[in-house]
Amino acid sequence: MKQGHPGRGQVDLWYVPLDDFGADEQAACLRLLSPPERERHDAFKSESARLQHLAARGLIRTTLSGYRDIAPEHWRFGANRYGRPFIDDSLGIDDLHFSLSHTHGLVACAVAAIAEIGVDVEPRDRDAGLDELAAAVLSPRERLRFEAMNGQARRDFFFTSWTLKEAYVKARGMGLALPMKSVVLDLEALPPLAHFTDPIEDDPSRWAFRSLHLASGHIAGIATAVPGGKPEIVPRRTRAINPPARR
Ligand SMILES: CC(C)(COP(=O)(O)OP(=O)(O)OC[C@H]1O[C@@H](n2cnc3c(N)ncnc32)[C@H](O)[C@@H]1OP(=O)(O)O)[C@@H](O)C(=O)NCCC(=O)NCCS
Repeated sequence: MKQGHPGRGQVDLWYVPLDDFGADEQAACLRLLSPPERERHDAFKSESARLQHLAARGLIRTTLSGYRDIAPEHWRFGANRYGRPFIDDSLGIDDLHFSLSHTHGLVACAVAAIAEIGVDVEPRDRDAGLDELAAAVLSPRERLRFEAMNGQARRDFFFTSWTLKEAYVKARGMGLALPMKSVVLDLEALPPLAHFTDPIEDDPSRWAFRSLHLASGHIAGIATAVPGGKPEIVPRRTRAINPPARR
């Protein structure tokens, strides 16, 4: 059954814990890849990066087919000059948009009716390298808060900040060409608020930020410039693809 159209304020957050991405799912996803996707798949040296890439292709193709009468293998994609993928114009679909993220153990995609949508996912349990990353990602004031924290609260503060900032730069379609330090978050506000510092020139009141803890042990950050500023986030766990029936 088609989901049809995500409502104007709705963001469907589809996610696949990679523990659920077994041999049947992998084989089914492989059959959906376009020749360039297959080439990229075959070139990965790291097994975990290869699996994330494969699950992401399967997830986005089968998910989009839930919204439109297009078979998973028939979706075509383009990318902007910063690498942001989008549904190819030749398919004539201008009211369905997505953002993809993958990390250790999880692949996620956010689907919405508006183009300015970004998602980022990260595991909540990582400790290694946080201080170096904080220096690169957090504004001076955010860093002071981070440095005063310990344990899981510290990790959650960092990964909530990071995923929301990354979701924003992805929603803008520019990725790391925008400095994450210039997205300054107030996480004490519920939902979180942001302002921007030089060189980002943008109106914070256009943006809504939402953070979710997923049962898989990951944090998902979503940024969207949804009209009205009140997105409804609908988390939807899936297996990326229906494995072929066993005979
Ligand atoms: C987009 C970016 C922030 C992703 O960060 P990440 O945490 O490594 O990876 P994630 O899994 O969360 O996201 C990767 C996905 O984001 C999407 N993506 C890539 N570039 C994007 C962009 N400019 N805007 C939005 N989404 C983008 C892709 O779908 C990609 O997955 P895919 O390659 O399997 O299709 C980062 O890789 C980036 O900016 N890349 C572009 C290169 C660039 O600008 N370099 C500047 C160096 S200073």
